[in-house]
Amino acid sequence: MFRLKIPATTANLGSGFDTLGMALSLYNIFEVKKILPENIFKCKISGEGIDQLNDPDKNMIVKTYKRACKEWNLNFTGFDFESCNAVPLNRGLGSSSTAVVAGVMIANLIHNQNKSEAELLRVMTLIEGHPDNVVPCYLGGMTVSCWDGENLRYVKLPALPNNLNVIAAVPDFEVHTEDARKILPESVPFKDAVFNVSHASILCAAWAMGKWNLLRVGMEDRLHQIHRAKLFPGGIGEKFLTEIQSRPDCIATAISGSGPTMIAIVHGSAGNLARAMCKIFTEGDSASHFFVLNCPETGAEIYY
Ligand code: HSE
Repeated sequence: MFRLKIPATTANLGSGFDTLGMALSLYNIFEVKKILPENIFKCKISGEGIDQLNDPDKNMIVKTYKRACKEWNLNFTGFDFESCNAVPLNRGLGSSSTAVVAGVMIANLIHNQNKSEAELLRVMTLIEGHPDNVVPCYLGGMTVSCWDGENLRYVKLPALPNNLNVIAAVPDFEVHTEDARKILPESVPFKDAVFNVSHASILCAAWAMGKWNLLRVGMEDRLHQIHRAKLFPGGIGEKFLTEIQSRPDCIATAISGSGPTMIAIVHGSAGNLARAMCKIFTEGDSASHFFVLNCPETGAEIYY
């Protein structure tokens, strides 16, 4: 019937906790093959999550589809679908957001709802809980979003220029967002809050004006990464944030979303920096692999 091509994302970009996010050129492809009777779902998974996502009753696409139907007062049907997943699970690259975006898009498409972009994004954010993965996932580029639990405001900024790549170094251990949120403090010193407001603001202004030399400063963070670094084994989280950040070939580095993937923005050739990132994971006794990606201008796409 139709196929959805949905990008990975990296949320927070250091200073922009729960606010900033960027699409990455790594994709999950979801194909809806046939409508089935009410509440009958069939799925076939290949690639990432092949052993974890096969039960349609637990599949995030099905859950999201049902939730979106409820939100719009639609009687849900069933469907047969296939997921071909390239985005690793529970690694901070927005794999669950690809499923949330897909589920809401499927509800909109199957039931001919023709909902506006703003309404689709509102429901996606309501289901995901924060906007910094779903908004760039659906829209592409870099996005700035504000969510108060009811209203969503967002602005899309252009993609990174072609000469800047994003290395995503992905370890073989998982971090669940829930755990990575629990480790955060209830309150932060006022000066740290001011630090992040000013750095995230510089980042957005610099991004909008193409002043890429300000990315490093703009991505500096004092709210969450220092706490989340503790979830990495053997002190390697702190090492990433200091050693990798201070390399001359690294423009800026950050924990991707709630981790444990680390991203680094690099100018031109990425091999040496990517290997240095994976070496740090090895020092913490974790195997890892890396992707060299870019930030696509286009987000989720539909093919008939
Ligand atoms: N902003 C969220 C967090 C993203 O860092 O917890 C989680 O995917």
